Amino acid sequence: MISIDLKKWLWIISIPTLLILLALGYFQAGEPAGFTAITGTVILTCTLLPSALMRLGLLKENPYVRWLVKYRKDLGIVAGTWLLTHGLVSALFFLKRDQPILDQLMVLPLKPIWIMVPILSLMLLTSNEYSEKLLGKNWDRLHKLVWLLPALMFFHGNLAIAEFEKEDFAPAGILLAIVALVAIYESFRSKRYHRIVLLVIGWMVTVYFWMSSQV
Ligand code: HEM
Repeated sequence: MISIDLKKWLWIISIPTLLILLALGYFQAGEPAGFTAITGTVILTCTLLPSALMRLGLLKENPYVRWLVKYRKDLGIVAGTWLLTHGLVSALFFLKRDQPILDQLMVLPLKPIWIMVPILSLMLLTSNEYSEKLLGKNWDRLHKLVWLLPALMFFHGNLAIAEFEKEDFAPAGILLAIVALVAIYESFRSKRYHRIVLLVIGWMVTVYFWMSSQV
């Protein structure tokens, strides 16, 4: 097993970086939205994918995969922190400060954030031993809601790029698609379908958002 304390280093790197990115968002300089979004998505992938591969019996002996699985809870907390900071940084960067904020958050690419922000916040708030003991089995159920996110993030990321005139390329979309496909395959193999159900619900919500914007 690799001996680096990933939890410590994730925070040592993330806290100052996120503070700088928040400042960039506030001063509307650089590319803090894209950087926070892709980094959060990469860390989320490192949280979800290695465990799924292990459950499939793939790369079981690989020291890097085992190391990532060992730190999956810490990775999840850091991923949530990056993604929520991305929301804040992007709001500071892109939203017009002299116009009502709520109206600006109603555009189609930003509709998913009304679901993503509460889920990420709930998961972060309950990511401690006290909540785990208090919630018992419900803790696991609550944290399974993470599987609603891939479709919503995919939809938001792709449409936000067009809405806010960023580069027409969504690397996060590729990672999210891989995570979702592996989870679907693993669910069929293990005959435990909750991940598929949540992924499909997330996808159906995006279809609903899309259809309701067309009428
Ligand atoms: C916590 C909620 C949010 C999550 C989980 C989230 C997630 C993502 C993801 C996964 C991407 C795709 C990145 C890529 O493909 O490279 C993205 C891109 C983007 N998001 Fe968000 N987002 C959130 C909130 C927001 C908010 C509130 C805004 C704006 C007010 C926003 C604006 C953008 C923009 C402009 C991009 C494109 C950035 C670029 O490529 O430069 N996001 N987001």
